[in-house]
Amino acid sequence: MQPELLMMDNLLDILPSGMIFMQADGSILKINAKARDALGLSPSVQACDLNRTMPDYLLPLLKLMEQATEDIQRAEISLNLPARPEESTLGFSLKFLRPDHSQPPLKIFTFTDITQVQKDQLAMEKIKDELNQSKKLASIGTMIAGVAHEMNNPLTGISMSASLLKMNLERLKTLPEAQESPKVADSIEKGLLEIQKITRASEKAAVLVNDLLAYSKPSQLVLVALPLQAVVSDIVNALKSHPHFSQFGIEIQGETPHRVRCDRIKLEQVFYNLVKNACDATDGKGQVTIFFSESQNPKDGTLQVTTHVKDNGPGIDKSVMSQIFDPFFTTKGHNGVGLGLSISYRTVEQHGGLLSVDSVKWQGTEFKITLPVCEEPLYLE
Ligand SMILES: Nc1ncnc2c1ncn2[C@@H]1O[C@H](COP(=O)(O)OP(=O)(O)OP(=O)(O)O)[C@@H](O)[C@H]1O
Ligand SMILES: [Mg+2]
Repeated sequence: MQPELLMMDNLLDILPSGMIFMQADGSILKINAKARDALGLSPSVQACDLNRTMPDYLLPLLKLMEQATEDIQRAEISLNLPARPEESTLGFSLKFLRPDHSQPPLKIFTFTDITQVQKDQLAMEKIKDELNQSKKLASIGTMIAGVAHEMNNPLTGISMSASLLKMNLERLKTLPEAQESPKVADSIEKGLLEIQKITRASEKAAVLVNDLLAYSKPSQLVLVALPLQAVVSDIVNALKSHPHFSQFGIEIQGETPHRVRCDRIKLEQVFYNLVKNACDATDGKGQVTIFFSESQNPKDGTLQVTTHVKDNGPGIDKSVMSQIFDPFFTTKGHNGVGLGLSISYRTVEQHGGLLSVDSVKWQGTEFKITLPVCEEPLYLE
């Protein structure tokens, strides 16, 4: 090889980007060291070897280069590279080089493997979304706290007045005038029925106000380091005996050795909300499967354990996915308040964890409760 060509060859091999040169007839003229490495080829592979036998997984790339008729500034191509667990994405540019106008142009494909960059970007976006979600919930919480507080006083007034009215009417009922006149007795009975309606409605409103207060001012957790497996088993046993889930299947698959710092009662409420939603979504006749997995927290690398609650319901529509953790978002009309998931989100957040969801329409829903693994010694209750 001439010294200039050898120098050029060496230069191409130290470049940080992968480069492939293709001639007008579709044959490969040169492939540099970075390209061989990134594409899973042995360091000894030369252009002539590729022209003889091109690995199948590189055919889409070859086709793209062959079919290009003009420069491509910035684009991506996905390839199934060998020994990679998932598809790899190459960010590339393609340039037509005409060193001499009498000759057909050379095509130069320059690329970088951006699979990891894309993954990091996705992880960053997820973290940003989670941060926005918790900020949004915190500010809505402050507003709700005010409204709930203001609603409590008139509600107390309504139920007290209703009780007084009931007492008065019941006293009236015993007077001789009322007993002698069927018309008066009838009016008193009707009045008592109306009072019963007022009492029921105000009791319902009081429950709602309590839920609101629980959402807006979450009570202090009583955190104890406990084996997650035992906690979840106890919770599942309690849920199984709940009349609401008599026809609903709840099953734990697999085990976890990890302990978490948790408030058992609060965690039970979270599971109740998730299982109830799954039960509602399947008309009470479906089932949830609960299983565990472990991972590293992307923010600080610490160990975390995830409890998956997966149902076989109809899934969640993409269009409402971003709203399901918002307070008062419900698709159940009068049968739902829309607080179950937002309260659960806050509770898991209070545990230093994260409640997230994966759902594909018609393929079920999977809620994931991710909690930090506790390395402290076990406290026996
Ligand atoms: N497992 C699930 N399958 C399908 N949709 C779900 C599931 N879990 C939640 N959803 C959707 O998310 C919405 C919000 O749930 P959330 O628990 O916050 O409120 P709700 O169940 O409607 O009312 P509440 O829990 O206050 O009685 C639901 O109305 C439903 O549309
Ligand atoms: Mg619910």
